[in-house]
Amino acid sequence: MQIDIQLLPVSPVPSLVSTKAIVVIDVLRATSVITHAVSRGILEIIPVATVEEAFEMVKHFPHNTALLGGERGSRKIEGFDLGNSPREYIAEKVKGKRLILTTTNGTKAFHSVSSGKEVMAGSFFNIAAIARRCLDLGHDLLIFPSGDEGRFSLEDTVCGGMLIDRILAEVRTPVVLRDASQSALILYQRFKENLIEAFRLSTHGRDLMERGFEEDLAYCAQVDITDIVPIFREGVIRGH
Ligand code: MLT
Repeated sequence: MQIDIQLLPVSPVPSLVSTKAIVVIDVLRATSVITHAVSRGILEIIPVATVEEAFEMVKHFPHNTALLGGERGSRKIEGFDLGNSPREYIAEKVKGKRLILTTTNGTKAFHSVSSGKEVMAGSFFNIAAIARRCLDLGHDLLIFPSGDEGRFSLEDTVCGGMLIDRILAEVRTPVVLRDASQSALILYQRFKENLIEAFRLSTHGRDLMERGFEEDLAYCAQVDITDIVPIFREGVIRGH
């Protein structure tokens, strides 16, 4: 098994991803929202790139069965039901519903790697479950941090490093780590005792604190609170 992580969120050439399992990571906060919402009983999530697409998409579903969620500039979008804080995605609001989600980086990332053999949403919430799924699949793995508007993101790379660490702890076949994976692992080892420190140092973590979402940092740093593996297939994310 070969493990690679794409340190910059540039769309990979489809032929490079089609033989691999992919884990998309936007731990602050899109893939944390997705994992949380699925664990609270949401039916499915449709990630879309733009606000306009989201408003168009919701018209296709019967009244009251679909929610609009997401952010721009980290804040809830006008006319939407929910923002992009995982704490908002409680069972009372989301159970049995469909979510149309649009976020600055995270939702676009799924479409960049849609030709992967299996595309999963990873976060600290479900890191052990994701590691198990990667091991069960046995494919080469590409971890895809969604980044910060085209730039490297510290928090997603640390989460990717944790995933590599968990896989190495369980794997029974030889593993080849690409240089980027070695780097992510080293970064994770630096922050593993204090994941919130990585959040606080990161550009996006600091933006979230300035915009009043400091509580989301502690919330998103919770490790292994669910066994859910959200899988993106044919444009839709459902739990596994
Ligand atoms: C994103 O997709 O860019 C993020 O999740 C942004 C955020 O939650 O503030």
